[in-house]
Amino acid sequence: MTLSSLISSVPKAELHLHIEGSLEPSLMWSLAAKHNITLPYKNVAQIKAAYQFSNLQSFLDIYYAGASVLLDEDDFFALMWSYLCKCKEENIVHTEIMFDPQTHTERDIGYDIFMPGFLKAIDKARQQWGMSVKLILSFLRHLSEQEAFDTLEQAKPYYRYIDAVGLDSSEKGHPPVKFRRVFAQVRRLGFRIVAHAGEEGPADYIWQAIHTLGVDRIDHGVRCLEDPELVALLKKRQIPLTVCPLSNLKLKVINDMRQHSLFALMDKGLLVTVNSDDPTYFGGYLNRNFEALDAALGMTKNQLQALVINSFKASFLTQDEKAHWI
Ligand code: ADE
Ligand code: ZN
Repeated sequence: MTLSSLISSVPKAELHLHIEGSLEPSLMWSLAAKHNITLPYKNVAQIKAAYQFSNLQSFLDIYYAGASVLLDEDDFFALMWSYLCKCKEENIVHTEIMFDPQTHTERDIGYDIFMPGFLKAIDKARQQWGMSVKLILSFLRHLSEQEAFDTLEQAKPYYRYIDAVGLDSSEKGHPPVKFRRVFAQVRRLGFRIVAHAGEEGPADYIWQAIHTLGVDRIDHGVRCLEDPELVALLKKRQIPLTVCPLSNLKLKVINDMRQHSLFALMDKGLLVTVNSDDPTYFGGYLNRNFEALDAALGMTKNQLQALVINSFKASFLTQDEKAHWI
C-alpha cells in the first residue's frame, strides 16, 4: 500500500480544529445569500483568492469576518455537519473540536443558537457512523479576562456537552498569564485545559501555559525548540503538542514545508500530533497535512503509524477508549 492510501485509510483522531475555520467558501456564499449579507467578494473564487496571509493577525481578520454569515441554528448545524462529513471521508474516527463562543456572542448570537446546531450535527454523526466527538470551548485572548469569565458563565447550561476549555486568537501581547484566574475557575469546574502557545508567541508563553494555566495539551507549541529546558519538560511530562503544518506554512511561521520541525520534535521524544487547524483557510483537511509533510520531508510508514497512535494518546478519550484504537 502506498503511503498516500495509508494516510487516507488509517483510522485517526484530530485534536486541533476550529469549527469556524472549517467554513467552506461555498457555504459562506450560500449563507450570505440566505441572510442578504453583502460580502466583500463577487463570487466563491474571489473568497478563495482572498486567503493569502502574512501572519496570524491577517488571517484572523478574515476568519472573524467570514463567521459573520453564521446567524441561526441551521447555519451552525450546516457548519458542523460539513466538517463531520469530511471526517467520515478522511477516516477521522475521533475529533476534538474548538469553537469560539465570543465570535458569536459579540454579534448577539447566543449559546442557545449555536450549541443546539452543533449538538444536532454531532448526534447525527454519532448515530450514523459511531463517530466520537468532544467539544473545546475557546476563549479569545485578544479580549479581556472578565469577558472570558462571562463566556464561561454563559456556557453553564451546556457544561455537560463540553470537555475542555482552550485559549486562541492573537497570541503576541496576550500571554497565558492574562487568563490565570479564569483558568483556575475552569480547573475547579473539572474541564480539561488546552491553550495555543508558541505558534507566533515566544517559548515563554508555553512555560506560562504549563505552569500558570495547568494545560493538558499545547496547541502548536513549535517554538518550544528555542528553549532546550522546555523541550526537556515537554518530553518528561509527555505534554502533547497539536501541530498544524499547513497552518504554519500559510501563516508564515515557516517559509517552506521543508523547514517544518515536526519530525525534529518527534526525534526529541515529544508527543506530537498532526492537525488541520482551519482547513478551509489553509488549503487542506487533515489528510492533506500528512501529505504535505510527506511531500516536503518524506514520511516513513513507521512515522505515520507513530503519529496516528499519538493522535489517540494525546486525546481526551478514556484509557479504555484509547486502547480500542492504539
Ligand atoms: N483561531 C483560529 N485559528 C487560530 C490559530 N491558528 N491561532 C490562534 N487562534 C486561532
Ligand atoms: Zn488553532
